[in-house]
Amino acid sequence: MKRVFSGVQPTNNLHLGNYLGAIKNWVELQNSYDAFYCVVDLHAITVKQDPKQLRQNVLNVAKTYLALGVDPDKSTIFVQSHVPQHAELAWVLNTIAKLSELERMTQFKDKAKEHKENINMGLFDYPVLMASDILLYSPEVVPVGEDQKQHVELTRDLAARFNSLYGKTFIEPKPLINKEGARIMGLDDPTKKMSKSAASANSYIALLDSPEVVAKKISRAVTDSGTTIESGADRPALTNLLTIYSLLSNQSIKNIEKEYAGKGYADFKKGLAQVVTQFISEFQSKFNALDDNKVKKILEEGAAKAKVVAEKKMEEVKTKMGLL
Ligand code: AMP
Ligand code: TRP
Repeated sequence: MKRVFSGVQPTNNLHLGNYLGAIKNWVELQNSYDAFYCVVDLHAITVKQDPKQLRQNVLNVAKTYLALGVDPDKSTIFVQSHVPQHAELAWVLNTIAKLSELERMTQFKDKAKEHKENINMGLFDYPVLMASDILLYSPEVVPVGEDQKQHVELTRDLAARFNSLYGKTFIEPKPLINKEGARIMGLDDPTKKMSKSAASANSYIALLDSPEVVAKKISRAVTDSGTTIESGADRPALTNLLTIYSLLSNQSIKNIEKEYAGKGYADFKKGLAQVVTQFISEFQSKFNALDDNKVKKILEEGAAKAKVVAEKKMEEVKTKMGLL
């Protein structure tokens, strides 16, 4: 059975962009692939974390996967640091990754600007660790948002380089990026992606925002000039809101435009708030019903399954490289 691998960092609450750009695909893929979904805590510590908060966030992200429909009977759900081969393979791949290619990574450049006081080696090496996460499991596809495409391409390059140096060991995985939803934009600024680290909480809708907060954020969302409810390249704010509406309600943007023909922004925003709050309320009732101890058990079982695959691949790597 073909494999799929992906992960999300346990930093703050996840938002609609994480769901629509990535996790929505995970849920579909688990039906036809052998799926591995990871909580990448070693990535999270490349920016400063409070230990107590981090511990909570790791559990919350696992609960988020489950509440969004990732099914532990179909998918292996686990925590990156529970499988030591991730860090081990990262060291090995460091010996073939080039400074010049890591210096080109736009996420590193952005994060280095954002965390000027803490540009640590881990932040620079982040894409190599991500390549290790992926390559250990030989997945065909890696479902991610648009911002991670460059990292998956680096992963392919490192796989090919390793293979040509030491013989065929890794599969070159393909990024799986949606046509719509791959880049959900900030509600307060449609030129920036929706992000947990945005300066203003009005940028994003967190999956754990209360319905009142969601309604308020949507009513404050910026719109484009003009009055009609239509998408288009010159209407980035409306296009973004229509994309969210469309993906959450499973209707085409065209249909939604028809529904709101002759109506204004106020009506549209009211409708959008309804669609989003309904989704969020259903998510939250599933999230709140999850028992922490049961979730920890799922993560333990997941790590045990992941280890079997990771240990085998790491053994192969060591043998190929001449490590006794
Ligand atoms: P992160 O929160 O950076 O760990 O991202 C987790 C996943 O969500 C990755 O696959 C990202 O590409 C995706 N993602 C993050 N922000 C967005 C966004 N604004 N739109 C679409 N996908 C996103
Ligand atoms: N770098 C990804 C992000 O910021 C998270 C991530 C780490 C990941 N390892 C991965 C995603 C492996 C897919 C596959 O969103």
